[in-house]
Amino acid sequence: MTTIPLLTLNDGHRIPAMGFGTYPLDNPQAEAAVREALRAGYRLFDTASRYGNESGVGTGLVSFDVGREDIFVTTKLRGADQGFDSTLRAFESSLERLKMSYVDLYLIHWPLPMKDQYVESWKAMVRLRDEGRIRSIGVSNFLPEHLQRLVDETGVTPAVNQIEMHADFAQGALLETHRKLGILTEAWSPLGHGKLLENPVVQRVAARHGKSGAQVLLRWVIDSGAIPIPKSAHPERMRANLHSFDFQLTADDMRDLATLDSPHNRIGGDPATYVEE
Ligand SMILES: NC(=O)c1ccc[n+]([C@@H]2O[C@H](COP(=O)([O-])OP(=O)(O)OC[C@H]3O[C@@H](n4cnc5c(N)ncnc54)[C@H](OP(=O)(O)O)[C@@H]3O)[C@@H](O)[C@H]2O)c1
Repeated sequence: MTTIPLLTLNDGHRIPAMGFGTYPLDNPQAEAAVREALRAGYRLFDTASRYGNESGVGTGLVSFDVGREDIFVTTKLRGADQGFDSTLRAFESSLERLKMSYVDLYLIHWPLPMKDQYVESWKAMVRLRDEGRIRSIGVSNFLPEHLQRLVDETGVTPAVNQIEMHADFAQGALLETHRKLGILTEAWSPLGHGKLLENPVVQRVAARHGKSGAQVLLRWVIDSGAIPIPKSAHPERMRANLHSFDFQLTADDMRDLATLDSPHNRIGGDPATYVEE
């Protein structure tokens, strides 16, 4: 079993340097995948109310022989639940589905600036954190102006911003904002949703190290200072993806991979306009 290093968040809590993504697994698939991932050594698990699999994730986690303090569970507030009271209610429902008394990290899934409720949602999350129901609070898909507004209006900086980030969509400017504010970056779709695995540049770097494309892409995220949360439903891939800590990319490798980067390579929605259904 691979042991994953820990990083420290701006609130002092520790977080594993790689996690396990669970979208788009349904409840039975998520339950089985989470058990396999625990066996492989994953300790950070990423789910969301919107994925509809919190129940399966929770069942997989509580049925495995590992202490609650040894795992790190993230879930997210869906857009329809944004607002102060609705956030408090949505959080209780997530906890119930997860069968847990707290979560390690709760994120606002998308800013939805047109709805203009993310500051109210954030205030509710600050309260839940102060009550001990959530260890760390953060956001997902937030742009610099959304982050700044939270800080200006509440004085509380998110511990994490979970963003789309892969070698061909490197998000340099947003990472610089995170660095200045002391926010840790989590990278979703770190493998480009699987589409980057056979990229010739990625494959060339992989061949230099005797590694797979997936391992190179995950190592690139780690070396860029972020936490990758790859998803796989296959146990052998889950295990292989963890072998991204036992080699290092050279400056030449990083230069080669940087040639892939373009702001046009976004896979998901643009947070400025994205409307969560
Ligand atoms: N916050 C957000 O808005 C947001 C948005 C999207 C995703 N996420 C989170 O980020 C997680 C990861 O993102 P993602 O699932 O979109 O993309 P990803 O992790 O970049 O890629 C997943 C795809 O790669 C395949 N794969 C994984 N490891 C592989 C390997 N070693 N060799 C070959 N293929 C491999 C998987 O197939 P198999 O399963 O068949 O192995 C799957 O098709 C999600 O599960 C979710 O938890 C968050």
